Amino acid sequence: MKKNKSIYIETYGCQMNFSDSEIVASILTADGYEITKEIKLADIIFVNTCSIREHAEERVRKRLQFFRSLRKKSPDLVIGLLGCMAERTKVALMEEEQLLDLIAGPDAYRHLPQLLEQVGTGQPAIDTILSVDETYADITPVRLDSNGISSFISIMRGCENYCSYCVVPSARGQERSRNAATIVNETRDLFEKGYREVTLLGQNVNSYQWSAGGETVNFAMLLERVALVNPLMRIRFATSHPKDLSEELLHTLARHPNLCKAIHLPVQSGSNHMLDLMNRKYTREDYLNRIQNIRQILPGCSISTDIIAGFCDETEEDHLETLALMETVGYDAAFMFKYSERPQTLAADTLKDNVPEETKERRLREIIALQQKLSLANNQQEVGKIVEVLIEGKSKRSDSQYFGRTSQNKVVVFTKADSWPGDYIPVKITRTTSATLLGEFANPDMQ
Ligand code: SAH
Ligand code: SF4
Ligand code: F3S
Repeated sequence: MKKNKSIYIETYGCQMNFSDSEIVASILTADGYEITKEIKLADIIFVNTCSIREHAEERVRKRLQFFRSLRKKSPDLVIGLLGCMAERTKVALMEEEQLLDLIAGPDAYRHLPQLLEQVGTGQPAIDTILSVDETYADITPVRLDSNGISSFISIMRGCENYCSYCVVPSARGQERSRNAATIVNETRDLFEKGYREVTLLGQNVNSYQWSAGGETVNFAMLLERVALVNPLMRIRFATSHPKDLSEELLHTLARHPNLCKAIHLPVQSGSNHMLDLMNRKYTREDYLNRIQNIRQILPGCSISTDIIAGFCDETEEDHLETLALMETVGYDAAFMFKYSERPQTLAADTLKDNVPEETKERRLREIIALQQKLSLANNQQEVGKIVEVLIEGKSKRSDSQYFGRTSQNKVVVFTKADSWPGDYIPVKITRTTSATLLGEFANPDMQ
């Protein structure tokens, strides 16, 4: 395929996928391609896909139908599928439905230039082989859709926890950590380019481990090194698996003001029976102990979670235990989902997806309603306080307002003062909704 062609990349799924799209953009621009934000200008369309729930895959299929309609008008248009759906759907999408010209799994992005050359030669342009050591450590991502302030760095890939409902281990392969020095260097580089916040990404960042020259760096040590790059660089991370959250990590967070006081700790369910069937490897009691540790070592730290409603065999009592646990923890925020059975998972192979759809929906509604109440109650406690906000940009609703975040990851909208995105400013919180804090620029002397 000739170079100087324009590539449009559309990304679905989690932040890791967005981070991967930046790696893809970097590999392809180094090879002479251009990235375009205009689908109309594209010679090549890549969809970076997610498999986590059935709904995610359906959205991608619909988009692929639309892209195929574009290809009818421009027969030279190349359509490629990247990411977590690659391995699972390659036969159906490429051979039977002929929706695709190219398929590349999450560890095959270095081969994209080669695969693009293969399109149209009669050789199938498919590579879904998963690697045991690929971390793209040497590739400086091209930042896509960035606000110039916040960014992310993937510090590990894959997952080996095999939660019974989850497709990630089969979609992304073995867990591997990225060279610590390259993570620190990339953070420094981002800071020098004006970024002020970086989120370190992995499916289970607490099990990060990198060994070189007789030295082993664990996640707490990595965080410390990244924190020391510059005190004005905020550091976040996701996701923490509750079974591996160490006290060492909490003490490290306490030592550095620029390590954000926000922990995302997915619980999935409040019932020990569910947690066991989910293969989460902790109990409700273990989880609540972790929460107590966080509250003791990091007072004022916000805690968010993920919850699945209606997993296999879930009874009304199991569901009530989830609601009770949510109340006990008093989460600041949550991502809440209905269980969606995924092929090639432990649950699909060994358990029955036996909670009726309307029960799943009702339980999810109850979970969402409770979380809204908890989020509002937490946010109301901020009213009247002066908080430090990192400005990210103009508010969507009004040009005269900015939005930014607190260390606790709460979104704050406030009247523009004499300051700019990337600045840290004190804001007095005057009102709140369950999702957003509203405030006014406060006198810096009061900071
Ligand atoms: N590695 C992270 C989560 C990654 S997936 C962790 O272990 O916490 C993000 C969230 O999607 C999960 O926490 C879970 O709540 C949800 N999820 C994963 N598989 C799902 C499924 N089959 N059905 C519904 N929700 C699911
Ligand atoms: Fe999936 Fe569990 Fe791995 Fe998270 S830890 S990605 S939920 S298998
Ligand atoms: Fe992320 Fe979806 Fe893959 S959540 S890891 S893009 S299956």
